[in-house]
Amino acid sequence: MTARRPAILFVCLGNICRSPLAEAAFRREAERAGLDVEVDSAGTGPWHVDEPPDRRAQETARRHGIDISGYRGRQVGRADFARFTHVVALDRDNLAVLERMRPEGGAALSLLLDHVPGRAGEAVADPYYGADAAFDETWADVSAGARALVALLARR
Ligand code: 4NP
Repeated sequence: MTARRPAILFVCLGNICRSPLAEAAFRREAERAGLDVEVDSAGTGPWHVDEPPDRRAQETARRHGIDISGYRGRQVGRADFARFTHVVALDRDNLAVLERMRPEGGAALSLLLDHVPGRAGEAVADPYYGADAAFDETWADVSAGARALVALLARR
């Protein structure tokens, strides 16, 4: 039996700052590694459904040569645990929401920085109410997580 194609869903609170940047960083790393994978992002909250990413997140991605202006916010649901093989939370609050939502036998659930050596249990801090510079830190964190996850999936 061939293994199922991996499908990764990144989840934060609003789906306009951290998880779209994680999606963008992961898409780039997967492409570089030649990894055939489905990628998406979602939020646990409903406030930004159908909205494009936060302007500061768009600018951060653009500085790294990636256009995320076409991304649109959506809310995570139970069906995502069947559609995806891996659901990856950006922080512990969202991980807790996802743990309650996950049906038995659903997608593997983890915290993004758990995959980065020495950073297990750490959150990608919410930059929404922070200064613009907070988004540089977000980008560094999600890039480290994306590289680690791609390495993990490429070894399968
Ligand atoms: P995100 O950031 O979870 O990284 O997308 C947030 C965006 C919006 C809100 C909170 C966090 N909000 O409360 O609207």
